[in-house]
Amino acid sequence: MFDPLVLGTSSAKSSIIRAATAESLATSAGKPTQELVGKLEELAAGGVGTIITGYAYVTQDGKPSEGALGIYDDSFSQEYRALVNRVHSHDARIIMQLVYGGSKSKLADDDPRWLVSDNALADDSGHVALEAGLSQRKASNVRIIGPSAVENPRTHLVPMEATHGDMARIAQAFGAAAARAKSYGFDGVEIHAAHGYLLSQFLSGSFNVRDDRYGGALANRARFVLECVSETRRQVGSEFPILVKVNSCDVLGDPKGDLGGLGEDESAQVCAWLAEAGASAIDVSGDWHAVPGREVAGKPFFAAFGARLARELALPIVVTGGWRDFALIERHMAEDGIAAIAMSRPFICEPDLANRWLAGDTAPSKCTSCGYCASKPGIPCAQQ
Ligand SMILES: Cc1cc2nc3c(=O)[nH]c(=O)nc-3n(C[C@H](O)[C@H](O)[C@H](O)COP(=O)(O)O)c2cc1C
Repeated sequence: MFDPLVLGTSSAKSSIIRAATAESLATSAGKPTQELVGKLEELAAGGVGTIITGYAYVTQDGKPSEGALGIYDDSFSQEYRALVNRVHSHDARIIMQLVYGGSKSKLADDDPRWLVSDNALADDSGHVALEAGLSQRKASNVRIIGPSAVENPRTHLVPMEATHGDMARIAQAFGAAAARAKSYGFDGVEIHAAHGYLLSQFLSGSFNVRDDRYGGALANRARFVLECVSETRRQVGSEFPILVKVNSCDVLGDPKGDLGGLGEDESAQVCAWLAEAGASAIDVSGDWHAVPGREVAGKPFFAAFGARLARELALPIVVTGGWRDFALIERHMAEDGIAAIAMSRPFICEPDLANRWLAGDTAPSKCTSCGYCASKPGIPCAQQ
């Protein structure tokens, strides 16, 4: 865990990563606030080797939630350079996660992507509850892009099928965002192709029912994600680290993909293609709905799949999700051939966890995985 982690041009002092975690503290334009910068600096001072930022949207129409970071144009230079300097001053590395939200996005009532702008469909309080029948109608009146016009079971949003022009624009935007992150001093980028956001939906037979060259067979469903990665590689040059976060499978407990989502064999094949397309490392996660709130039962969620990828592929494998126990991490890192582990909630609970472990107090993380942190902006820990 405390061995250096080398990814392309970046070398971190340890192989402990803070997994991408949206603090929901950015301004409505996506700029980091002082509070957000302070949280990341606290983490860096707490000894973590690398921080992956919360997701940052690469185009304005791809904003996944209120308070998310943005990197969709050239106006972010000053704020991000300052953030990177603060993190680097504690000898930590920082990687920016890039996302296009799609139909999993949480839209505020006044989001311009709603096509119905009056309050006709809102309830008495002016609030539109997604569960209500009325909002179902509103939910299909939205300018959101998806692989196909399939209702999202979680948000009820019905996206518009992406045109080839949309896809070219979004792939270009991933590349441009990565080039910006590189020029601001970030140590790498992570393309978010997991958790049911747009790229993950393209891979999934449940969301992607297209009959053109971007749908159907796995090679077609993977085409758009691979285009985003190769375009990003083209724009940042050959050495800059590009991680890709993927689902091991789309539905936990369904590794074969029998329920229609991506299965583990398919995911492993996609990861091999991602390596050819220019990915520097794979970050293994899983499930459409990310993980907050899930019971951990002392077990890392995706360690077995991570070990499989480490055996089958030549690029570094990061495994995210459920790590709490020092000895268990050390054992998996020694036996599974994985390059690094990433934790989200343990660092919310204890920003200085890495320093505590390094100092010899190897008691497990105090995080109980209750998921309270995901319920509010500022990611408060229920234990503090
Ligand atoms: C508050 C919160 C925000 C998160 N935001 C992101 C995000 O922006 N991008 C992402 O890929 N995963 C996000 N995740 C998921 C984590 O990166 C991670 O995959 C998940 O929490 C499991 O890891 P853990 O058991 O160490 O918490 C978030 C998780 C939490 C709790």
